[in-house]
Amino acid sequence: MRNNQIGIIGVGYWGTNIVNVLYQLGIKKIYCFDTDRENQKEIKKKFPKINIETNFQKFLNIDLSGVIISVDTKNHYSIANTCLKNGFNIFLEKPSTNNSKKLQMLNKIAISKKLIIMSGYIYFYNDYIKYIKKIIKKKFLGKIFYVSCERLNLGPVRSDISSAWDLSSHDIAICNYLFDDNLSILNTGGYDFLKKNINDISFISAKIKDIKIDLKASWLNPEKIRKMIILGKKRMLLFDELDFKNPIKIYNKYAKYPKIKNFKKGFFTQKANIFLGSTLRPKIKTSSPLKNEMLEFIKCINHKKKPISLKKSINILKILEKI
Ligand SMILES: NC(=O)c1ccc[n+]([C@@H]2O[C@H](COP(=O)([O-])OP(=O)(O)OC[C@H]3O[C@@H](n4cnc5c(N)ncnc54)[C@H](O)[C@@H]3O)[C@@H](O)[C@H]2O)c1
Repeated sequence: MRNNQIGIIGVGYWGTNIVNVLYQLGIKKIYCFDTDRENQKEIKKKFPKINIETNFQKFLNIDLSGVIISVDTKNHYSIANTCLKNGFNIFLEKPSTNNSKKLQMLNKIAISKKLIIMSGYIYFYNDYIKYIKKIIKKKFLGKIFYVSCERLNLGPVRSDISSAWDLSSHDIAICNYLFDDNLSILNTGGYDFLKKNINDISFISAKIKDIKIDLKASWLNPEKIRKMIILGKKRMLLFDELDFKNPIKIYNKYAKYPKIKNFKKGFFTQKANIFLGSTLRPKIKTSSPLKNEMLEFIKCINHKKKPISLKKSINILKILEKI
């Protein structure tokens, strides 16, 4: 890298994970900026070699090859705008901005200044998701009928975007990636218990081609759940991210109505047959998705490579705007 110096703005929950990975990748000089004094102290305590800059103007004067922005979504745009105008390549955490037009505007600035914007959609770098895409392509599950995603946990509760923008944005990214198309919304719903107009629990019914998709997100759930179910004509797949032993299970199970010509005369109640076969638990070699994502950011900076995620991120925002 040009000078092996990376900046990060926002070192809360997720920014701290990013700093940890940058350390593991051997980035010697990491400069942090955060408006919260407690978070400044906390990150310095965890990573004593880190540089903390408390003045934003001074932070902008540091010779950085890239800046990671991991603050509240509502603040992404103005910080990204300032960073680009200051000549920094940027990595913008999902969901990038709270409006697709703002991201398109940032993109224009980046192009005019020959800088890159990478959007943080971590599942593009997840080996399980890549495996699922591969077996769908090979038709191992048969024709896909239906996908259901549940992304539930207790907090963090956001005050600027809904649970759908915060959590289902990941699942929209995954579905678009798996089926090489953009999801279209059929129906949406949700409940705003804690703050008016910010749904704590969200539902989205959607489709991609003729695949029906249901997404559920909540930050008011007593247990953390990360489950994706894919129903194929031949097999069913469960991706349970929190099952560390067997996160992917492929069930050789399906239901099928017998062909009408096979019915005996006088037999009027047609009943679906259930086929119950064995379950497959594939062993998949994996690497840290966040590490892969940060490596890609560094590679894009070094080789002036266009990150694949920006156009995808604009599409995701356009979908989220329809909720
Ligand atoms: N990729 C993922 O899996 C993943 C997971 C969690 C969060 N995120 C994303 O990361 C971002 C941050 O989320 P979080 O959970 O860490 O939130 P957080 O509230 O824990 O941290 C946000 C930090 O940004 C700081 N901040 C806010 N405005 C600022 C400003 N104008 N200047 C400097 N600092 C500012 C806050 O003080 C805080 O320390 C969000 O965009 C979120 O969607 C991504």
